[in-house]
Amino acid sequence: MTQTPWLGFSIDRSSGTPVFEQICSAIRARAASGAMGLGSKLPPTRVFATELGVSRSTVVTAYEQLVAEGYLSSQQGSGYRLCAVGEVELPQQSGVSADQDLASPPQEMPTSRPFRAGTPDMWLFPYRQWAKTVARVCRADPQAMFHGTGGFGAWALRQAICDHVAEWRGISARPEQVIVTAGATDALSICLHALAVAGDRVALEDPGYPPLSHFVTAQGLRADYLRLDDSGAILPSRSAAARLAILTPSHQFPLGGAMSPARRMEFLQWARETDAWIIEDDYDSEFRYAGRPIPAMAGFDRLQRSLYIGSFSKIFSNALRLGYLILPESLVQVFQHSIQRFGPLASSMPQQPLADFIASGEFYRHLRRVRRVYAERRRYLLSRLAQDFGAYGFCHDHQAGMQVVFHLTCNQRDRDICAAAAAQGLTLEALSGFVQRQTGASIAHNGLLLGFCGYNEAELEQGLLILKRLFD
Ligand SMILES: Cc1ncc(COP(=O)(O)O)c(C=O)c1O
Repeated sequence: MTQTPWLGFSIDRSSGTPVFEQICSAIRARAASGAMGLGSKLPPTRVFATELGVSRSTVVTAYEQLVAEGYLSSQQGSGYRLCAVGEVELPQQSGVSADQDLASPPQEMPTSRPFRAGTPDMWLFPYRQWAKTVARVCRADPQAMFHGTGGFGAWALRQAICDHVAEWRGISARPEQVIVTAGATDALSICLHALAVAGDRVALEDPGYPPLSHFVTAQGLRADYLRLDDSGAILPSRSAAARLAILTPSHQFPLGGAMSPARRMEFLQWARETDAWIIEDDYDSEFRYAGRPIPAMAGFDRLQRSLYIGSFSKIFSNALRLGYLILPESLVQVFQHSIQRFGPLASSMPQQPLADFIASGEFYRHLRRVRRVYAERRRYLLSRLAQDFGAYGFCHDHQAGMQVVFHLTCNQRDRDICAAAAAQGLTLEALSGFVQRQTGASIAHNGLLLGFCGYNEAELEQGLLILKRLFD
């Protein structure tokens, strides 16, 4: 138990509530009771962390959560201050009682032990702002939630997606070229249905995203697996005449790393010369922690031979099941026919609220905040791996994504470690599980996928202690 002169509360380590949530609750309660006045300055994160005996990133996570909820404001260099609490209350018309705390996820929200990969931290989700946005759409234009979206999705969201990719990915597109999908996985499946017929060859990265092989087999297509070198996927052989190639150039899944500019150009050249299509799966590109964002390949190509896929699963929520596909102008009609045949899967319900959330800037506030928190967690995990696990393997630091790959140099098999870790309650994935074609080269893919986004430092540390015991 640690007392602090500022807020006078103690951390209860025996409670099941995460430490950062305890800090949030204490500040919320003091804001609501008036114990902290409007404009009050919060203790600096480093000092407060020392006072409480917790890591600084735990305090940063808590403060950032409260920024997202509208309790605190932050300004570079001047710290965090309490802002108007009244402004963040939900309108009564929404039917939500004032004392029901939408700022916190329900207590029964499933939590997983480290190191589940690729899932955002739903404790950081801006519940209150999202509820306000949904309530506003319900009040102002309730039909907007149910509008038939013409197969391609709500116009406002398609417009917001165009603005987003122009700003973040260097892609210039019109809303007519955008299809709102039920996540990136649905977008990939739509592409395969629209662009390939049974017997066609499809080039896939190996190792790669496992559902793709299933889609290809289920549709009677033939997979042409592409090996990877330091520059990214290696081009398909011309004799194989692949109809399309599905690539993750900004952040290869699952290895990480970006495709070199020269290799991108070679792929685009290949697509032009062979009349093939490139499908750029940009599933987590918003999570780049250093340097400039790597522009999308589809932007270079001006959407001539490439299609672009993005997802809201990583930035926002897996459960929302929303993503998007951006088409070359020349393919819009082809996809219209295909969507009519197979039907759209994306729910229309969240599309207008999401469009409003993006247009109002709330989406970007959330994105900036989770990026800061994930960057800290990633830094912590990498430093702990370098410090304590050097005898067993190493990580390449790609400064991106939601998981790191720990490549094993010891003589243990990744699957064995994952099985032993599962018995201890950890969630680990073996790198070899993403290899499609078991060749000599694939033996090199012996490693562990360690997701870090959903876990604070204390949780990561607990997972690492268990993992260390397994290695030792
Ligand atoms: C390479 C790749 N593409 C697509 C997806 C799926 O994204 P969504 O949840 O939007 O379907 C993932 C999920 O991890 C992925 O790793």
